[in-house]
Amino acid sequence: MAAAVAGFRAAHGTEPAGVWAAPGRVNLIGEHTDTSGGLAMPFALPHTTLAAASARPDGVLRLHSANAPGGAVELLLDTLSPAAGSGWAAYPAGVAWAMREAGLPVGGADVHFTSTVPTGAGLSSSAALEVATASALNDLYGLGLTAERVARLAQRAENGFVGVPCGIMDQMASACCTTGHALYLDTRDLTHRAVPFDVAAHGLRLLVVDTRVRHELGDGAYANRHAACELGARRLGVPALRDVAYGELGAALEKLADDPVVRRRVRHVVTENRRVEEVIALLEAGDARAIGPVLTAGHASLRDDFEVSCAELDLVAETANAAGALGARMTGGGFGGSAIALVPDAAADAVAAAVTEAFAAAGFRAPRIFPAAPAAGARRLPTD
Ligand code: GLA
Repeated sequence: MAAAVAGFRAAHGTEPAGVWAAPGRVNLIGEHTDTSGGLAMPFALPHTTLAAASARPDGVLRLHSANAPGGAVELLLDTLSPAAGSGWAAYPAGVAWAMREAGLPVGGADVHFTSTVPTGAGLSSSAALEVATASALNDLYGLGLTAERVARLAQRAENGFVGVPCGIMDQMASACCTTGHALYLDTRDLTHRAVPFDVAAHGLRLLVVDTRVRHELGDGAYANRHAACELGARRLGVPALRDVAYGELGAALEKLADDPVVRRRVRHVVTENRRVEEVIALLEAGDARAIGPVLTAGHASLRDDFEVSCAELDLVAETANAAGALGARMTGGGFGGSAIALVPDAAADAVAAAVTEAFAAAGFRAPRIFPAAPAAGARRLPTD
């Protein structure tokens, strides 16, 4: 907080009107369901992006980041267009662009960003940057937007301005999560509910393992999975795979027998929605330990049916489970990024050590491992 204010002062020469925070996330279960209108269950990390910001009267966005070299980026709101966006500044610029596209009366701003959300680790540093910006502009210009609207505008910025075809999960997680809870999210209508997930109270720890294999959603594989899901839905005669009930899965798979790839993609999405329902039932019954096998089953489905895992993520899941985890899976988009492992307190150190050793033995880069408890969603920080 103090660093964000000091950074703003150094970059813009004045005091900020306020500081807004937005977190990164991990997803507990419900992966690659949000592009099919399905269910997900992310929670916010304690790692946040802070935006210290003030309004400007001249329609200029002056963006500065402590994490990016090269000084401030100055953009004129009137000339913002998707083609012009590149680099980190495209995310906050895209948010202002999306707000104007939606007819919202947003003007210029000076912003200084600092962030502790690891980038390229599949932990939604992009969503944190977008949601921090949207929250700041929302308050600075008195837009009165709900958290859901902030999330939608942030997603629009990423889809329409940055050019990444992501779903809505990350932005909703960053905007709507609450401390001590996971967010049960219906990505079709954005209804959501906070589900208690106090890992420590259950004698558990949730380890995040950043494989340090950089993942990119923009490289085609993500869009390709989405296209297969749309094709599957079309062939099954439903608006989206969300509309295939678990009980209808067998019949649906039979209809897709001639296309084994689409068949696998459909099987992942339908079973994954079911796993979200299983996890929520277990958590609401107070049985956090029992979700472990469901997480592990989710990993197998992402690896074998959706085919978005990689050797490093598989090694985390396998090694963690063998070393005493209750369950483990990749989290986020895949193709690198991070995995999570749910471990009893007493086994946490052994699991972390086993994963580190397995990576060394395989000749992989050392992973970064840290425990994470569900933290707060986006908010304006109190200044005194
Ligand atoms: C990325 C996307 C999300 C979601 C996940 C997979 O994080 O940004 O919208 O699709 O992948 O669940």
